[in-house]
Parts: sequence; structure tokens; C-alpha cells
Amino acid sequence: MNLRQFKPEKLFAPRGFTKPEINTPQYLEIGAGRGKHALMFAQNNPDKYLIAIERTRNKFNDFADKSQQLSLNNLLPIHADAIPWVVHALEPSSLAGVFILYPNPEPKNPSQRWLNMPFFEFLLSRMQDNAKLILATNIQSYIEEAEQQAKDLWQLTPEVSEVDKQSERTHFEVKYLARGETCWQLELVKPNGYKTRFDEWAVG
Ligand SMILES: C[S@@+](CC[C@H](N)C(=O)[O-])C[C@H]1O[C@@H](n2cnc3c(N)ncnc32)[C@H](O)[C@@H]1O
Repeated sequence: MNLRQFKPEKLFAPRGFTKPEINTPQYLEIGAGRGKHALMFAQNNPDKYLIAIERTRNKFNDFADKSQQLSLNNLLPIHADAIPWVVHALEPSSLAGVFILYPNPEPKNPSQRWLNMPFFEFLLSRMQDNAKLILATNIQSYIEEAEQQAKDLWQLTPEVSEVDKQSERTHFEVKYLARGETCWQLELVKPNGYKTRFDEWAVG
């Protein structure tokens, strides 16, 4: 696949954008849905700070309501498209980990799958050395393609495994496993000294 280069300078900040305070260690979840994983992660890891982004209004509202009820001070729910938000909000090498759990499969738009996107290089630039990215899906061809792209395009060493049948991290995971489907997980660690074209790039 011939990938065009990502152009962060072309992206406007999302409507109503305000730059978040930097809290460390900082984690990012993209496509948090109704927030099941984000809420659990924040409750179980009071020493870690999670930014969880969801683009769909009704899912986000549900998530934001639950988050408010729990008044977690280590969780920041964001209603935005993750791509411009990440570009405008995050500094290089600022993330200790990334979660992309059950992304839309984009059957008709392979170029919109996360590891096929030019944005993925930018996302890698925001990760610290040794930070881990976790991607889960119920679609075998998605995980196989992501594994191949991680190796060929991004020169990384992914590990793919089956998700435990008892796992209940997200609403989609619960639904797929209850239907008896197999779910897969890809884990990537950003190697020490890994270089991207965006390592010095930050919004001016
Ligand atoms: C299939 S759902 C999974 C939701 C949740 N992670 C789960 O497993 O229950 C994928 C979610 O990703 C969100 N999403 C897709 N692209 C996004 C983007 N660029 N920025 C923020 N959210 C996005 C969609 O709105 C949708 O809610």
C-alpha cells in the first residue's frame, strides 16, 4: 500500500477545543464508546491518567454522565474526532499507552482502518519509548491486516493473541464473546529510539 504522508498542519482544532492539562503517566483511548473500559481503567488505576475520546454524540453523552457520577479525577472524556484532537492536544512522546478497542471495521474503506492511516505515524510519535498500544477486534481479517501493516509499514513487532473468553472490557467485547465469537488483540510496543517524521512536531 502506498501511503501518503500525514499533514498535521492542515487540521483545524475541533470545535470548542481546549488544551488539556498534562498529567502523567498519560494514556489515550480512541473510540471509547459508552466508556465501559475507560471508567474501569480509571477506577482500577488511580495513579494513571486516561484521556478517552468518542466521536458519536449519544455514546459520548452516556459516557460523560457516568464519568461525572463517579467524579474520577484521572479520567478526561472528550467528545471529538480523535485525529485533529490528538494533533492539537498532545506533545511528542507524551503517551504511556494507547487503547483502540473494537474500532469500526470499515469494510468499504480500508484506508480508514487505524494502521492503514497516515495518522498512525503521528500517533506513534505521541507515544513514549516502550509505550504499548493495544488494539482489539472480532474481525480476523482486520487483525491479520493490522499485524502485517505493523510489520511492513511501521517496522514494528506486533504480538497477536486471542482475547480471553471471560474478558468484559467493553460493550462490544461483551456482545461478541456472548455470541461465541473469537476476539483478537494486537499489542505493539514502541521500541527505544524509534523515529517518526513528527518527533519534533507540535502545534505552535
Ligand atoms: C465499534 S465502536 C466500539 C466502542 C467501544 N470501544 C466498545 O468496544 O464498546 C467504535 C467507536 O469508535 C468511535 N470512533 C470511530 N472513529 C473515531 C474517531 N476518529 N474519533 C473518535 N471516535 C471514533 C465510533 O464513534 C464508535 O463509537
